[in-house]
Amino acid sequence: MFKVNDNYQKLPGSYLFSTIARKVSEYQAAHPDKTLIRLGIGDVTQPLAPAIIDAMHSAVDEMGDAATFRGYAPDLGYEFLRNAIAENDYRARGCDIRADEIFVSDGAKSDSGNIQEIFSVDNRIAVCDPVYPVYVDSNVMAGRTGTYDPTTEVWSDVIYMPCTKENNFVPEFPKETPDMIYLCLPNNPTGTTLKKSQLQEWVDYANRVGAVIIYDGAYEAYISEDDVAHTIYECEGAKTCAIELKSFSKNAGFTGVRLGYTVVPKELKCGDVSLHAMWARRHGTKFNGAPYIVQRAGETVYSEAGKAQLAEQVAYYMKNAAAIRSGLAETGFEVFGGVNAPYIWLKTPDQMTSWEFFDYLLGTANVVGTPGSGFGPSGEGYFRLTAFGTYENTLAALERIKKL
Ligand code: MLT
Repeated sequence: MFKVNDNYQKLPGSYLFSTIARKVSEYQAAHPDKTLIRLGIGDVTQPLAPAIIDAMHSAVDEMGDAATFRGYAPDLGYEFLRNAIAENDYRARGCDIRADEIFVSDGAKSDSGNIQEIFSVDNRIAVCDPVYPVYVDSNVMAGRTGTYDPTTEVWSDVIYMPCTKENNFVPEFPKETPDMIYLCLPNNPTGTTLKKSQLQEWVDYANRVGAVIIYDGAYEAYISEDDVAHTIYECEGAKTCAIELKSFSKNAGFTGVRLGYTVVPKELKCGDVSLHAMWARRHGTKFNGAPYIVQRAGETVYSEAGKAQLAEQVAYYMKNAAAIRSGLAETGFEVFGGVNAPYIWLKTPDQMTSWEFFDYLLGTANVVGTPGSGFGPSGEGYFRLTAFGTYENTLAALERIKKL
């Protein structure tokens, strides 16, 4: 008889955003007359920028002509895209990341779930708490997290770094020494971030203890303050301890288009084993490349027109973030984030649990958000709203919340 991967049986419930989608569709089915405003999952609402649409149209035409048709993409991604990334996201910021250290993918969610495969199952992972659930769940699937305690909602072998208002949502160095450290900055879900000097301390720590940092920079485009690093490679020594994951979903609206990349510097080694070589082997074996049309769209993100149009999109969402922050604060909510990130993290009122507030908001205001406890035990008593809605819906949601 075949056997299944028993680690999957350890996963509690379903994936957070699947659970929310199910609850919301059940509510909508029971109340077809209600108009819901969805500020839950961080999914964009603005259409693709005109420069990107033009690039995709041209690429489609190329695919329809035998002279310019393309089949399988190169393993690491097309050079035109990797060169544009290396130039704009790294060299322009004084970081010496080369095009052949960049692996183009179909998005940061897959990369953040897959990257753990190249590490030993014996490694201890450290995660911020609350945390993007993919980091923990993918390690559960791999058998790296020990046993789950449903009462405390913690895994026995995971090192949690609580991020709460008491420590300004800044993780502290854990008492136990981790092997792999997941950092998402600006942070999903708390919407806060670290200053560059604080990130440098993490890089120094990782190099000192021999840990690798898996650095998720999906929300980098939303940084508005000066003293925040746009990539971990702005920190000295990061190339010997950090892998960086980037997404085109939030800066360019590619949640449905799908494109991302991962940087594995050649200096990053475990003894004399190159992580770059391992990830190249994994990528070449299990992935057949992001579509040519999408990679051309990604290249356009770095064109003059693309940059200008996307800066407007980011500003649009950040106007929503500012409206949510001030609107909720005026109503008496305690709010965090929303300055360097498109997420607002708020304290639930009247000691409600995160899920109680989710149900209350859905049932009374018909507004969908994300319960903080879904991101980890320290998220209990918090709630996340996304700034990725339309401006009109954002204001309408605030009006409904004010009337609660
Ligand atoms: C979120 O809402 O946390 C994100 O949109 C999920 C994702 O990027 O996969």
